Amino acid sequence: MARKLPFLMLILLQLALLPHSQCLNSESAGFSLRLTRRDLPDSNSFHQRLESTGHFPDVIRPRITRADYIFTIDAGIGTPSSQKPFIFDLGSELTWTQCTPCVNCFQQNYPLFDPKRSRTYRKLPRNHPLTRWTTSFARYNNGAFTFNIAYGSGQTSTGIVSIETFSFPSHRRGPEIIPGVVFGCANNQQGYFSSMVTGVIGMNRSPVSLISQMRSLSARRFSYCFPPINSPVNTTRLRFGSDIKKIEDLQGTRFLSTRDYSYRVKLLGISVAGRRLDLPNRSFPRGCTLDTGCAVSRIETRVYSEVERVLIQHFNRFNLTRLPPGSISRGDLCYSPRPGFINYPNMTFHFQGADYGIGPKNLFLFLDNRFCLAMFPDKITILGAYQQQDVRFVYDIGNQKVLFREEDCSQDKA
Ligand SMILES: *[C@@H]1O[C@H](CO)[C@@H](O)[C@H](O)[C@H]1NC(C)=O
Ligand SMILES: *[C@@H]1O[C@H](CO)[C@@H](O)[C@H](O)[C@H]1NC(C)=O
Ligand SMILES: *[C@@H]1O[C@H](CO)[C@@H](O)[C@H](O)[C@H]1NC(C)=O
Ligand SMILES: *[C@@H]1O[C@H](CO)[C@@H](O)[C@H](O)[C@H]1NC(C)=O
Repeated sequence: MARKLPFLMLILLQLALLPHSQCLNSESAGFSLRLTRRDLPDSNSFHQRLESTGHFPDVIRPRITRADYIFTIDAGIGTPSSQKPFIFDLGSELTWTQCTPCVNCFQQNYPLFDPKRSRTYRKLPRNHPLTRWTTSFARYNNGAFTFNIAYGSGQTSTGIVSIETFSFPSHRRGPEIIPGVVFGCANNQQGYFSSMVTGVIGMNRSPVSLISQMRSLSARRFSYCFPPINSPVNTTRLRFGSDIKKIEDLQGTRFLSTRDYSYRVKLLGISVAGRRLDLPNRSFPRGCTLDTGCAVSRIETRVYSEVERVLIQHFNRFNLTRLPPGSISRGDLCYSPRPGFINYPNMTFHFQGADYGIGPKNLFLFLDNRFCLAMFPDKITILGAYQQQDVRFVYDIGNQKVLFREEDCSQDKA
């Protein structure tokens, strides 16, 4: 039997392992991964080459599945192909999976990827066009590019930048293959990763991300709709390019240009329960980052205090007493509702040109006999996966904008 840990340490351990505190954003809480561009953002030569050598399907529809508070995408990797789930992460660029031999791998419910058993595995050659991008996080030594990624909530991943064939479900019966995908064969990870995943699919705006590598098939447009946590439907589809249905009445806002390729948009203000918070001008100098690798949203610390103050006022009015902080994490805002309580407030993020409504279902975590605000204070503001449930999103990288509207995502069954 393991030596007994002091009580406080147990609590801290639990907090560190809470799935909803996970955030793969490279800028939140602590780490700041600075990517340096060595060149102009033109990766055409690489993508043209891929198109001329590769066989490209016209439609692929990867499955998106809920895994606790985040979402995963299943991909086939290698030849012969093995299916593995990856965290669907808008906040990072390099796709990676845990490989053998492994120095330190987190436990996963799937076998490790074994490059020796795949006919199509290669280390990234030194003259590959994407090397001028991977040098932002990878170094060449001893005949291979090694990568080193540090995520916002403290996880790290290191390994060898490689090339492999990926495959995804398509509109036809069988899977469609995408050869020559640059990815990371990871063999040394630290920090919390769910055993339901084997790695990360990076979907930011960098030329290295999967969406950019699949440019000819995706037209750099993708769309998803996350079913809510209590929905019997736990799997929907990620759609690309012309496979995205025309949807009426979408609202839209433009991406800010960012050095880290994140999907950052301009945030002008926040309303709680229909009333706009009285915030100083320029309260969101770094806008709001749309991210799916973050389980719940983060709000810039000073604004978070104001959100919290207004919510406490709201619940005071209905005579609810705040539970002692620490129910789910440090400083959290939790209440236990009276039977029949219905006066849950909502929230709106006022983006430039578009209001993003967050109803009670997406604002609070409903646990046994209490409910808690599903947001944390942080250095930057992030719209996380929990606040994106039952909303249709269309990311259009070429036109530099994101479109959205409420939708019943259970209708988007896989
Ligand atoms: C998704 O739902 C199906 C059917 O309800 C269930 O069998 C499966 O285990 C669920 N998957 C996850 C990851 O929860
Ligand atoms: C939020 O609640 C307020 C007050 O109940 C209501 O007027 C407003 O329309 C709601 N906003 C959204 C986006 O649902
Ligand atoms: C804040 O912005 C408003 C509208 O642009 C402007 O009228 C006001 O003077 C600004 N306040 C400060 C303190 O800069
Ligand atoms: C809250 O409590 C006060 C004092 O007991 C009472 O007068 C008021 O009606 C209560 N309000 C609600 C919404 O229950």
